[in-house]
Amino acid sequence: MSNPATGSVTLTLDGSNRSVSLPLLGGTLGPQVADIRKLYNELGIFTFDPGYGGTAACDSKITYIDGDEGVLLYRGYPIEQLAEQSDFIEIAYLLMNGELPNAAELKAFETGVTRHTMLHEQIRNFFQGFRRDAHPMAVMCGVVGALAAFYHDNLDIHDPEVRRIAAFRLIAKVPTIAAWAYKYAIGQPFVYPRNDLGYAANFLYMLNSVPAEPYEVSPILARAMDRILVLHADHEQNASTSTVRLAGSTGANPFACIAAGIAALWGPAHGGANEAVLKMLGEIGHADNIPAFIAKVKDKNSDVKLMGFGHRVYKNFDPRAKIMKETCHEVLGELGIKDEPLLDLAMELERIALTDDYFISRKLYPNVDFYSGIILKAMGIPTSMFTVIFAVARTVGWVSQWKEMIEDPSQRIGRPRQIYTGAATRDFVPIDKRG
Ligand code: CMC
Repeated sequence: MSNPATGSVTLTLDGSNRSVSLPLLGGTLGPQVADIRKLYNELGIFTFDPGYGGTAACDSKITYIDGDEGVLLYRGYPIEQLAEQSDFIEIAYLLMNGELPNAAELKAFETGVTRHTMLHEQIRNFFQGFRRDAHPMAVMCGVVGALAAFYHDNLDIHDPEVRRIAAFRLIAKVPTIAAWAYKYAIGQPFVYPRNDLGYAANFLYMLNSVPAEPYEVSPILARAMDRILVLHADHEQNASTSTVRLAGSTGANPFACIAAGIAALWGPAHGGANEAVLKMLGEIGHADNIPAFIAKVKDKNSDVKLMGFGHRVYKNFDPRAKIMKETCHEVLGELGIKDEPLLDLAMELERIALTDDYFISRKLYPNVDFYSGIILKAMGIPTSMFTVIFAVARTVGWVSQWKEMIEDPSQRIGRPRQIYTGAATRDFVPIDKRG
């Protein structure tokens, strides 16, 4: 619940003596928010906010962003501290439960996740239905949504125990589904999860190992994957999370809601940007071509964007991008990669963009996706899997936000309004009378 009203704002309808006093609500951090819930009843008008840039659709205790200062907090803890000192499974606990776990709580949580990592054997058959060249995000949407068909007698979302188990199932099974989508695409056998490995290490094991020979997960790569998962775990009410909440507000089951989130994440303006950044860098090819590319980005007649730049909320550095850039250097160093032309190209592109008035005046900075793809590529992950990895990480955030919403007594079905601009009322014309 937000704090009680700290003041009010009065809205007066021009040319009339009708006005309404709207309470100003406040959270722990962040600006005040005008509560417009009674606006329509009192003044007969509602608000217009395409893209919801000025609209809070819920209150939440999970994640906080200060876009002007470049701050990101999970449950109050700065992302820099969490990336340095925590790991993904602990952060999953934190996001879902609100507090850092003690050792016993963490162990129990980890066991809760690992006991659900396997997929029902019948789910193997789903994969065979996809073309080999299907994008793994398409496979993710389908198979995650299909999980509901395996737990159909256990979908009473009003039962806290059902919600708890559904959350474990999703967090545990999504890496297995992701790895199998990849294995199917490259024609290799599916690899079953290993519960003796950590979350990130097990994911890499399922992606990279084959039954024909032993496979040792590199601790360097496991650490890098864990860091990437941490940085993507949650990001307040972004497009995919809002999609999950909107779908969930109807009472839909959590598997369907998370599948909806995966679909929303896929777009290049959102999670698909990491894949698009690598494509863009490939097309630019050489630093000499950057000025021509930047000119295209600035040309209002072209629809070319500098992918991995800009954000709806951050009008400063995305703190995740800073950590991602440092991680990129660390991972390349640890892997002994002295020269990575893509990283050089990305840094030069960033340097040029950050000194260009187009980007400065619009407060466009690198976001989380600008450097993540370079790390993933160095780790041997194919480009088509980048957004899938984002989805694996964000599942924890989606599940936490979905749970919070269901447990919020003020929750109502999400139902925006519109300004209708179609034809006014008119009479039907029989076909033989139409011109
Ligand atoms: N390249 C060039 N111009 C841009 C860019 C960009 N990447 N981003 C914004 N602009 C321009 C935009 O054209 C507009 O210019 P003008 O004022 O002249 O019309 C101005 O900056 C304001 O942008 P906006 O479109 O109002 O911003 P938005 O909040 O609607 O969009 C965004 C945010 C992330 C969709 C957009 O910045 C974008 O498309 N970026 C590239 C894709 C990307 O990297 N997405 C990942 C976002 S972070 C991770 C995630 O959420 O998944």
